[in-house]
Amino acid sequence: MKPGSERKLVRALKGEAVSPPPFWFMRQAGRYLPEYREIRQTATSFLDFCYTPDLAVEVTLQPLRRLQADAAIMFSDILVIPDALGQQVAFREGEGPVLEPVRDAEALAKLDMGRLHDHLAPVYEILTRLRREIPDETALIGFAGAPWTIAIYMVEGRGGTECGRARTWAYQDPDGFGKLIDLLVQSISSYLIRQVEAGAEVLQLFDSWAGVLSETQFRRWIIEPNRQIVERVKAVHPEIPIIGFPRNAGALYRDFVEQTGVDGVSLDHTVPLNWAKEQLQPLCTVQGNLDNHILLAGGQALEESVEILLKTFSDGPFVFNLGHGILPSTPPENVERVAELIRGWTT
Ligand code: CP3
Repeated sequence: MKPGSERKLVRALKGEAVSPPPFWFMRQAGRYLPEYREIRQTATSFLDFCYTPDLAVEVTLQPLRRLQADAAIMFSDILVIPDALGQQVAFREGEGPVLEPVRDAEALAKLDMGRLHDHLAPVYEILTRLRREIPDETALIGFAGAPWTIAIYMVEGRGGTECGRARTWAYQDPDGFGKLIDLLVQSISSYLIRQVEAGAEVLQLFDSWAGVLSETQFRRWIIEPNRQIVERVKAVHPEIPIIGFPRNAGALYRDFVEQTGVDGVSLDHTVPLNWAKEQLQPLCTVQGNLDNHILLAGGQALEESVEILLKTFSDGPFVFNLGHGILPSTPPENVERVAELIRGWTT
């Protein structure tokens, strides 16, 4: 890369209005692609798949070939952190992740941060290989789950709709629950710092379950831990742009942006566009927020939604993306069409 010619995604996250805007899609690698399903069969388990550099590098490259996206997101999962801490994690066909729950101080004491980086060494290798293999103009995104979202899986033993056990623990014994969150803040920060050293140029923190919390709990378990991670990563790598994704945060998106110090915020599909343009885009780069179901549905409605998003946000710092990940039954042609519409966009 020539000096002064930063990648489009990085320029947008540093506050530039890039036209047409850079784009990538959450879960751009995954089951909607036949070439992904084919490779996926060759691995015995989903976690082995994530820890096998040959396979993870190849599936990261697959969507780039179809879409010429402006970013590659390393292929991995947010649940490698509990796995690396020593918790039992399995992915069951048709059921998603299943974990041996951590619900008290005794279970918490068994988790061991000492094995983190040895266990996650394959992830660092994947990033280093990707930076050599992706096109020069493509940015490389590393990521982690944010503490609350990882804690949901650790405590519930699976993804929840109400997240009742974690919410109850957080109310009954905030100090005890806070120890789990602190362990995650430390582990995630250290993991992200190593990702940057391995080649990641942008980081995203996924807080997919942020939207289940009351305001006071949101401030304590979403804003504060995300803020601490941003502070720790930036103390070592101040130049690295960080995108936050407190999904379904509603009106609290604004305080999240102001108080965490993120460079970009990824918006779920329920966020009103004009509100985000007025309240959030002056504060940081916005990313999102095409409904993943309209991407699945396709047709004229999809084309119109893409255009409205581009019209609303393209005169400021913006990254085109979805409000949540691509669904497995999405026709790949619909995703390719959206990529084409963005690339052809002129204001
Ligand atoms: O292309 C990319 O976006 C990179 C890869 C990626 C995966 N998971 C691969 C994956 C990323 C960024 C994630 C993040 C992730 N994982 C989140 C945060 C974002 C979100 O979706 O809210 C969460 C909550 C998880 C946990 C997780 N992993 C669940 C709930 C599931 C099961 C649901 C499902 O779609 O099956 C997974 C499995 C998973 N992670 C798959 C992929 C491609 C599908 C598993 C398979 O191929 O068998």
